Amino acid sequence: MILVTGATGGLGKLVVERLAGRDDVVVGTRTPQNIPAGVPVRRIDFDDPTSLRDGFAGVDTLLLISAGDGEDDVVIARHGAAIEAAEKVGVEHIVYTSLSAAGDHLTYALPHRWTELRLMRGTTRWTILRNGLYAELLAMFAVTDPGGKVTVPLGDGRLAAVAREDLADVAVRVVTDVSSHVGRSYELVGEQAIGGDDLARLVAEATGTSVSFEPGTLAQARASIAASGAAAFQVPMLVGTFSAIAGGFMGGTESDLAKLLGKTPRSALGVITAAVNARQ
Ligand SMILES: NC(=O)c1ccc[n+]([C@@H]2O[C@H](COP(=O)([O-])OP(=O)(O)OC[C@H]3O[C@@H](n4cnc5c(N)ncnc54)[C@H](OP(=O)(O)O)[C@@H]3O)[C@@H](O)[C@H]2O)c1
Repeated sequence: MILVTGATGGLGKLVVERLAGRDDVVVGTRTPQNIPAGVPVRRIDFDDPTSLRDGFAGVDTLLLISAGDGEDDVVIARHGAAIEAAEKVGVEHIVYTSLSAAGDHLTYALPHRWTELRLMRGTTRWTILRNGLYAELLAMFAVTDPGGKVTVPLGDGRLAAVAREDLADVAVRVVTDVSSHVGRSYELVGEQAIGGDDLARLVAEATGTSVSFEPGTLAQARASIAASGAAAFQVPMLVGTFSAIAGGFMGGTESDLAKLLGKTPRSALGVITAAVNARQ
């Protein structure tokens, strides 16, 4: 039996859609009431050990989708609890959605690397999917400010953004054939490195207006993120992401993505274009 955690999240939802119809799949979520009737579901909350003990019973393969929205100690405790519970009930193989190697420059890399090490030192078989940053994330910044500019502190840096749907496709390929991926760690970044100039161009094309890219500063971004109502831990996460891209650390396109997909990856520019068009 395969169990997918985080089933109502952005990535989990896409994975569950792709696994629909299989009789060996159970979805795991903190909110089972949000899963359509008839779909096998278990309540899985990494903050509730009982839900893990009961929810992982009988599971052979666990797709552990990271629950990274929190301070490092919170995320480490969640992932540690999930792995420990899986080991105790006899889960055979854990597939973990981690962060790309370039992500070591990001503030939130540490809980991912902790989880990878925990898996390597644990008793289950494992596969690590080192996911790059989503094209959907970059698309959030393809918007104009009141002055008609795309203002985001990327400098002249670029991001090898990846379509979340491709990451879902890879996760499905791996969890349905785990014996081919034992002890493997895969780098899953996109094939196109996208910069602020691309974001401005896509907005200009969608709106039929002239739009320029304005890098702005990290200090300005920090102030506006803090003022937006973001949680305290989210402010350095986002500012650090901009800084790592601007510093030139996130543009590398070497990837296992095409090989694991068995086809050409989706265009990250296409994902951003679709998001921009949907806003018009
Ligand atoms: N590569 C990127 O660009 C990028 C961007 C954002 C996030 N991420 C990371 O990748 C993960 C998956 O991405 P996503 O797009 O699916 O993020 P998402 O839409 O924020 O979904 C994350 C899901 O994790 C589950 N979760 C959160 N806290 C949990 C807990 N205490 N116990 C069990 N499950 C919990 C929730 O699923 P349920 O509500 O169904 O329980 C939540 O919907 C994120 O959690 C984050 O670590 C990566």
